[in-house]
Amino acid sequence: MASSKSKGRVSLDERFYLSADDFFPANAGLGLTYDDVSLATRYSEVLPRMTRLDSSLSAALALSLPIVSSDMDTVTEHRMAIAMALNGGLGLLHYNMGEADQVAEVRRVKNHIHGMIGDPAVVSADDTIGQVLARIERDGLAFSTFPVTSSDGTLLGLLPGSTVKERHGQRKVVAVMIPRDKVFTVAEKDLGKDPIATADRKFSEHVGQNKLLVVDAKNKLRGLFTLSDIERISEESRAHVRPTRDADFRLRVGVAISVPRTADGEIDRARLLAHVSALVDEGADALAISTAHGHTKGVGDALRMLRKAHKNITLIAGNVTSGEGVEFLAAAGADTVKIGQGPGSICTTRIVAGVGIPQLTALYVASRAAAKKGVRILADGGITKSGDIVKALTLADAVILGGLLAGSREAPGKLMEINGKTYKEYRGMGSHEAMRKGSAARYGHSASGKFSKVAAEGIEALKEVSGTVDQVLGTLAGGVQSGLGYLGAANLAEHRKRARYIRVTPAGQREAAPHDVIEIKAGS
Ligand code: XMP
Repeated sequence: MASSKSKGRVSLDERFYLSADDFFPANAGLGLTYDDVSLATRYSEVLPRMTRLDSSLSAALALSLPIVSSDMDTVTEHRMAIAMALNGGLGLLHYNMGEADQVAEVRRVKNHIHGMIGDPAVVSADDTIGQVLARIERDGLAFSTFPVTSSDGTLLGLLPGSTVKERHGQRKVVAVMIPRDKVFTVAEKDLGKDPIATADRKFSEHVGQNKLLVVDAKNKLRGLFTLSDIERISEESRAHVRPTRDADFRLRVGVAISVPRTADGEIDRARLLAHVSALVDEGADALAISTAHGHTKGVGDALRMLRKAHKNITLIAGNVTSGEGVEFLAAAGADTVKIGQGPGSICTTRIVAGVGIPQLTALYVASRAAAKKGVRILADGGITKSGDIVKALTLADAVILGGLLAGSREAPGKLMEINGKTYKEYRGMGSHEAMRKGSAARYGHSASGKFSKVAAEGIEALKEVSGTVDQVLGTLAGGVQSGLGYLGAANLAEHRKRARYIRVTPAGQREAAPHDVIEIKAGS
């Protein structure tokens, strides 16, 4: 409390509710995490909806939502990365896949055009309407209008839904389709920087059209816009969601890198740099060296190699929980350092290896080291509710979520139904199964090892399906905005300055959750 006391008069509030630089040193030697503290409310003129959550992972990578999806094989592949970037956050693609597959995943995100169906279902001119109806039934399609293409993808016409009726079952598509010269199309090259705006304008100019087909210079079908999607998106864009885009209007994406080793245990420099160059050529915006222990020679060496080869790319590295670890990774070239060892909902590192620091204490120590070195930090793991994000953002630049996103529709993995409820698999990257798929190196084990004899540091679990990423992030962002409103902070810089902490006892924790009632509807 030295800084407040030195000012002479100390108010009652100042004695009880301490700033980070008073609170954490006063609790030195204690490992505190999210539920151990609460934030004091402050005088406010800020309504939650007026708050801005802008942050950044480097000078080049700005986010309008400080949330990153974890580089885990049950969390982030291209669908998740697309959804994260569309919501103003960022996805970190996992590396439990072949190198060529990872490059293809980056391509899928970078080529994604919001609102455009890039690979629409098509029919061929020789199909009968009966065959089309059978396919709609078999695949459970909710639409009956199809582009008609030849086997090489050339656009021949459009089959309107109004003709896809039993009464025309014997007719061929070619006999009832709208011919190519009458189909409503736009050239791919004319989509411009904002394809949604272009499509929106075209629909306004052509009354009655509700499908717009995109063709390339050779008349090959490249995509399809529907009027209803464009209307929904235009509506959403008025709700201030600003997607994370690069200078060419493409969505941004981060990629986790596995550091390959030669037979004698050295970093396979040629292979690492070739793979990273392929990712960068495809447009990857950030690379992450993700290991369970980032304060190591291997991670430092790999970072230096990447920084030397790619001066301007955003480099994320981790994980560490010490000031020295942050300074080490900053000196090796990291822009952003991941903080978290063992807090994750599927992690057993603390149980198995007996190491790791509870998140808020680790974040405080890391944030002060990061400020000294001019790097940013990410709070990785252990976040179970929006209030945790509010607390994390008093110290970190953004948070990484695994479990909170693993149940969403865009997370990889099949749905499972158990007793009438739907679940998705969620597993630690240090679980036996994930290590078998490739992540062993992240936990310092040999990729060819016998995993039954290696101590797993993660579990395999299920998450109840939780809706779309839009819904999950919408709820979380709303909670974070409420937190800023309570602190009277219009943005995250003010939030960090205005945060005042107090320890919470077990009785205080019980008081903080619903209690002494029978819950009939769970809150979000
Ligand atoms: P949440 O709590 O969001 O945590 O589910 C996700 C983070 O957990 C880390 N992670 C692991 N940590 N063993 C660990 O000790 C594991 O098997 C494991 N898998 C993931 C990772 O940092 C992730 O972002």
